[in-house]
Amino acid sequence: MHDLAQFKRLFVTLTAVLTLSAGAVVVDAAVVAAPAAALNNGLALTPPMGFNDWNAFGCNVSAALIEQTADAMVANGMKAAGYQYVTMDDCWMAGQGEPRGSAARATDGRDANGILVPDPTNFPDGIKAVADYVHARGLKLGIYEDAGTTTCQGLAGSYGHEVQDAQTFASWGVDYLKYDFCNLPSQTTGEFAGYSTVDMAKVLYGRMRDALQATGRPIVFSMSLALTSGLEQQTWAAPLGNLWRTTSDISDKWSSVVSIFEQNIQYGAYQHPGAWNDPDMLEVGNGGMTDTEYRSHFSLWSIMAAPLIAGTDLRSATSATLAIYNNKDVIAVDQDKLGVEGSVLSSDGTHYTIVKPLANGDKAVLFLNEGSTPASQSVALSALGFKGRQSARTVRDLWSHENSTVAKTLNATVAGHGVAMFRISGNKLSPAPSHVALYGSASPSYAEAGTNTTVSATLTNDGVAALDGVQVTATAPTGWTVKHGRVAARTVRGSSATQASWIVTVPTATTPGTYAVTLSARYRTPFAGRDSTASTDVSVVVPPAPPTTTSYLSDLTWVTESGTVEKDASAPSAGPGGPGTPGIITIAGTTYAKGLGTTQGSDIQYYLGGHCSTLSGVIGVDDSAFAFGGTPTAEFQVIADGTTVFDQTVAQGSAVDLSQSIGTAKVVDLVVVAGTGFGATAADWANAQVTCS
Ligand code: GLA
Repeated sequence: MHDLAQFKRLFVTLTAVLTLSAGAVVVDAAVVAAPAAALNNGLALTPPMGFNDWNAFGCNVSAALIEQTADAMVANGMKAAGYQYVTMDDCWMAGQGEPRGSAARATDGRDANGILVPDPTNFPDGIKAVADYVHARGLKLGIYEDAGTTTCQGLAGSYGHEVQDAQTFASWGVDYLKYDFCNLPSQTTGEFAGYSTVDMAKVLYGRMRDALQATGRPIVFSMSLALTSGLEQQTWAAPLGNLWRTTSDISDKWSSVVSIFEQNIQYGAYQHPGAWNDPDMLEVGNGGMTDTEYRSHFSLWSIMAAPLIAGTDLRSATSATLAIYNNKDVIAVDQDKLGVEGSVLSSDGTHYTIVKPLANGDKAVLFLNEGSTPASQSVALSALGFKGRQSARTVRDLWSHENSTVAKTLNATVAGHGVAMFRISGNKLSPAPSHVALYGSASPSYAEAGTNTTVSATLTNDGVAALDGVQVTATAPTGWTVKHGRVAARTVRGSSATQASWIVTVPTATTPGTYAVTLSARYRTPFAGRDSTASTDVSVVVPPAPPTTTSYLSDLTWVTESGTVEKDASAPSAGPGGPGTPGIITIAGTTYAKGLGTTQGSDIQYYLGGHCSTLSGVIGVDDSAFAFGGTPTAEFQVIADGTTVFDQTVAQGSAVDLSQSIGTAKVVDLVVVAGTGFGATAADWANAQVTCS
């Protein structure tokens, strides 16, 4: 893993180099231009699928790991589902035992003739033996190198050895090269004096592309342009490689998935079969997210036609993890021959409808709910281009694998951090039950012990035929009282809905926490054969007792938090290769003993019950946060009973005084949305305090 301080030093050097080169020689445009021939290797006509060890193992890569993974992929159905490339990432070379930054670490990776040497302990029989093993199982082998003088982990890079390394890889039987962009040649002296970083990248990637082509072996070329920001590589990479990274490194967190999705979804115009945007490898199964979040991650990557590179230990993957990786309905959307990246049809910034046209005239539709509470989301078939009297369609739910009929509008209840994903047939209707959505909510969603809340249900019939015998029941935790609601109608016509509501009483002395009221619906629809059912959970939060005196927030109990939150410490700032450790809250050189340390993509919710009038403190990006090529920023928001009352973006190095009236809000959220920086930048609510009585 990278050491942050080392990277900061590297960055300072890089800035110095860039500053110098600004005034340096003007280079002849003809020399700078990318090589003439575009990549046309006939490979990756659908997004590459496979495995890469980096996300789960970092530098702990070995022949045994790669071979056991290949065996696992055959045994667990992933090979049959289309996963093909088994790739060893950084650290397969000799030199690992040498100290970071030492010359030996970089030079041990080559023999006297300059040929790359694998780590003798971890790859005792060399790479060809691993390739043979993987090939014997019907899979393909991937390897990692770097366009610079050393890899991101300081091992031998390919600069100056491009032709030799391409030949070595081909002779070993390598089928896929992930080629990184760390530790670049000088831009002040030598070959690249006066070059911009982009022009140098074009030359270096063109050189390896041509060297791979010259070997005559089909080798997929993956451009790992992640850690140098501001290159806009999506606009120029297609002639050079089969795929190119579009964002910085993923981490095993929901906020990382959301931030990468929001960037990569914008670049659909730049990719096509054989040349793909790469929003980085999958984290599914690594433990930092819920299965709901992992299903969202996998669905989002698939609707974006992203490479599907599994990044977890497949030798011990759970059945829940494998059910995600092996979802053939979702994989078919990713691998569709048309090769179009999905695009946003509509969004309110939290709830997205994403549409991907498919080769046979079908449309894939994804509803994404970035928020933490369930949402009712919908799309009109007319907005997808299905219009007129024959507009009704058969719709397949790609996670439940059930077909249903939609007449005009498709509705779905989408879990917090969840998705609903469908394939809408381009053909006229075939017989299937009506599509039905059941949505529930509680008002208020907070109920102090001893008080009531109203739980409501809406059952929508999206189909053509009516539903009969409709019943909806509500079940609350034991000891709670549910006053009976009744559905407004037992028969629900096509494209219409019915409602019901219940008064739910929370017993006194209920322990604070989040409780579920389960709504269950039963109805009859043609083509279903028997009674159909649907169910959904409504969350009722029983909050902790609200504060009645002025208090530091770090001394109170929050109701919910998402993202990383530390009390009286700064959150570990993400850096290249992984997070750091929590530290003392420090903004613009001043340290604070009290406060909340968090990162971009966090939401901390407190129940104040209307007792507090002001939220005060000092906000800022922690001094420990790090960004390549610039100053990290973070956007801070205060949301009182659902209304944003404070919203300010703060750059590292400034401390902003916060003294915000929150009226008599019952619920207050402290939110940090994405800003710039490396992954999840550390953001502080120093001295955060509420004035209450
Ligand atoms: C960079 C890449 C990662 C991984 C590491 C290995 O950070 O973006 O995907 O390959 O290098 O050092």
